[in-house]
Amino acid sequence: MYSLKIIFYFIVIKLINAQVLWYQPEQIHLSYGETSNEIVVTWSTFNDTKESIVKYGIGGTILIAKGYSKIFVDGGSKKHLQYIHRVTLSSLTPNSIYVYHCGSHLGWSAQYWFRSSPTVETWQPHLAIYGDMGNENAQSLARLQEETQRGLYDTILHVGDFAYDMDSENGEVGDEFMRQIESISAYVPYMTCPGNHEEQYNFSNYRERFSMPGGSESLMYSFDLGPLHIISISTEVYYFMNFGIKPIVFQYQWLEKDLIRANLPENREKHPWIIVMGHRPMYCSLTDKDDCTHHETITRVGIPFLHWFGLEQLLYNYGVDIEIWAHEHIYQRLWPIYDYKVYNGSYEQPYVNPGAPIHITTGSAGCKEGHDIFNSTNPEWSAFQSKDYGYTRLKAFNSSHLYFEQVSDDKDGMIIDSFWVIKESHGPYKFSNMDWATMDGLRLKTFH
Ligand SMILES: *[C@@H]1O[C@H](CO)[C@@H](O)[C@H](O)[C@H]1NC(C)=O
Ligand SMILES: *[C@@H]1O[C@H](CO)[C@@H](O)[C@H](O)[C@H]1NC(C)=O
Ligand SMILES: *[C@@H]1O[C@H](CO)[C@@H](O)[C@H](O)[C@H]1NC(C)=O
Ligand SMILES: *[C@@H]1O[C@H](CO)[C@@H](O)[C@H](O)[C@H]1NC(C)=O
Ligand SMILES: *[C@@H]1O[C@H](CO)[C@@H](O)[C@H](O)[C@H]1NC(C)=O
Ligand SMILES: [Fe+2]
Repeated sequence: MYSLKIIFYFIVIKLINAQVLWYQPEQIHLSYGETSNEIVVTWSTFNDTKESIVKYGIGGTILIAKGYSKIFVDGGSKKHLQYIHRVTLSSLTPNSIYVYHCGSHLGWSAQYWFRSSPTVETWQPHLAIYGDMGNENAQSLARLQEETQRGLYDTILHVGDFAYDMDSENGEVGDEFMRQIESISAYVPYMTCPGNHEEQYNFSNYRERFSMPGGSESLMYSFDLGPLHIISISTEVYYFMNFGIKPIVFQYQWLEKDLIRANLPENREKHPWIIVMGHRPMYCSLTDKDDCTHHETITRVGIPFLHWFGLEQLLYNYGVDIEIWAHEHIYQRLWPIYDYKVYNGSYEQPYVNPGAPIHITTGSAGCKEGHDIFNSTNPEWSAFQSKDYGYTRLKAFNSSHLYFEQVSDDKDGMIIDSFWVIKESHGPYKFSNMDWATMDGLRLKTFH
């Protein structure tokens, strides 16, 4: 009788104590560090491993880098908790295949690889660019996974709206999304900007899960990629004014400073193409009544009535070459445009020495909300449009030549649009009230 009781208690205690331990690294993804010569490896564990280590190397050598982890608690009722680990790999040998795994003495991930950045002079980066990819109906995912694994891309730009939504189901939709992109993002830097679907709990799922450079919790930053200077901003500061006007002012000032710096002759010579990415477009011709269907788009002309902090003039003045947006679940390419006026380089070759920035909206990677519908009246500034699911590719050849193409997933990978942008020189546009002398004055004011 006595021994039965002991066995009974033993079983009860065992049952109470039964628990799963989650030390295994998951949701592994890469991003650039403070230079494109640095790679940050980010991953999650659900239990505390007390250490964050990446072992990596080229051809047999093993290097060890250590980082840190930070607890992230989703804002939902379950208070779903995870440890997000970050390790920076620096002083990488250019243009080499590194093999790595990450984890701790309690468990290691599988092995992955990445190619370190070539030197600026020789690099012709190839990018895949898209926005609005969900967990459900992620139409372009498989093709992107396959192409990334084949080594087609150097970098991914995901222009806002992830998972739909990362905070859903107490953050578990976010976890599954990060697992789902792992076969892309564990191999090439996965560079992001926030979209409206990240807004919940003050963008915390976005801020905590990604590790973009610049120390702004991934909200605004810039990085150089061969001949490209890429600037990522949050258009959402203009649309969620419940967080106040301060984020708009702060970002606007940061952005102008970054543009001035990018235009310093020694910088613009090295990275002549300035590309800005943000989630919501300034122009679109759709039936959904979104802000971009209005003439006075807030990001374009600034906050209502006062028209402060408008981005179109700022980007035009500093000679931004390309503006990439998403949010609308379509692909749309514009003729060079400023304030609703088309500035073709020439009628025959609109993108050869264009007179204004070129806007591209690429928000059709696939999500549960489906497509958007184009207005049947095609505005004169719209050069090409498609509602096919797909994504954009960009190959940056050199200081004068960029090549874009649009992949249709609906049409089995067919290229439905392609174009070259050719520029003999980069700088403020002809009709901007900015010139090199003014810019030099601003530079002195800003950096001294
Ligand atoms: C592991 O994580 C779970 C869930 O957060 C937690 O309940 C448990 O106490 C943790 N176990 C250890 C040993 O840290
Ligand atoms: C939202 O997050 C930003 C960035 O971390 C922070 O500066 C701001 O104070 C937060 N706002 C609110 C209302 O919590
Ligand atoms: C389509 O565009 C025309 C011309 O800009 C506009 O008048 C009309 O309201 C738009 N239709 C819809 C459904 O948005
Ligand atoms: C710009 O160039 C395209 C292509 O030649 C042409 O269709 C369009 O009408 C031009 N726009 C203007 C305003 O000249
Ligand atoms: C830049 O690349 C294009 C496309 O490959 C090529 O035609 C052009 O000659 C190159 N220009 C320079 C200066 O290397
Ligand atoms: Fe969106």
